[in-house]
Amino acid sequence: MNIQNSNSVDLQTGLLLRQSIPPRLMSEPAPTAKDVDDMLAAAVCAPDHGAIRPWRFHIFRGDSRLKLGKIFADALKIRDPKAGIESIKKEEGRPLRSPLIIAVCAKIDISRLDKIPAIEQIVSVGAACQNILLSAYNKGYGAIILTGINARDTYVKSEFGLEDIDEIVGFIYIGTNSNSINFEKTRPDYTDYMTEW
Ligand SMILES: Cc1cc2nc3c(=O)[nH]c(=O)nc-3n(C[C@H](O)[C@H](O)[C@H](O)COP(=O)(O)O)c2cc1C
Repeated sequence: MNIQNSNSVDLQTGLLLRQSIPPRLMSEPAPTAKDVDDMLAAAVCAPDHGAIRPWRFHIFRGDSRLKLGKIFADALKIRDPKAGIESIKKEEGRPLRSPLIIAVCAKIDISRLDKIPAIEQIVSVGAACQNILLSAYNKGYGAIILTGINARDTYVKSEFGLEDIDEIVGFIYIGTNSNSINFEKTRPDYTDYMTEW
């Protein structure tokens, strides 16, 4: 059964219906500049203990995706100087799978760690990611957050101005949902994870 991807559902319904769309089911066009602005405006409404604003958003669209591909490829060459041309080309092409990528990073404020540990700052950025995914869904786009080895790579992190303690929380791929539909997905039964005290 197909569920029509709708941008007019109420929040609770949207929360239940949102699902990830893999890059292979995405196509051009990329979200409009206004829609990206809306997604980022939603992102910075995430809960944020101490108003640290730990999130950093790096936007890649159009030809700038090639810059991200080069970063991924260079990182592979550093990890594995014997990497073959096929693997290098795969890294170069990785960001081209969707029209837009937002690399979402957590820049940890170490001066606040006594009261606001890194985990809380990273969770805040995770919540920002979810707001982006929900906003993208609400606008009818396909989106997914992916990590992989590049998210933990020291060279990739350094290209985003990150230190060891900082994190790349995810690369959010966003594009037009080629089929304009979502498929019904079995979700867990929350009572399996709940204890009433
Ligand atoms: C931080 C984070 C990183 C993820 N990285 C990957 C990844 O590298 N590869 C992957 O296949 N799924 C990854 N996922 C899972 C997908 O984004 C997605 O949540 C999953 O496929 C379930 O789809 P759903 O969002 O429709 O439930 C990641 C999820 C999170 C929260």
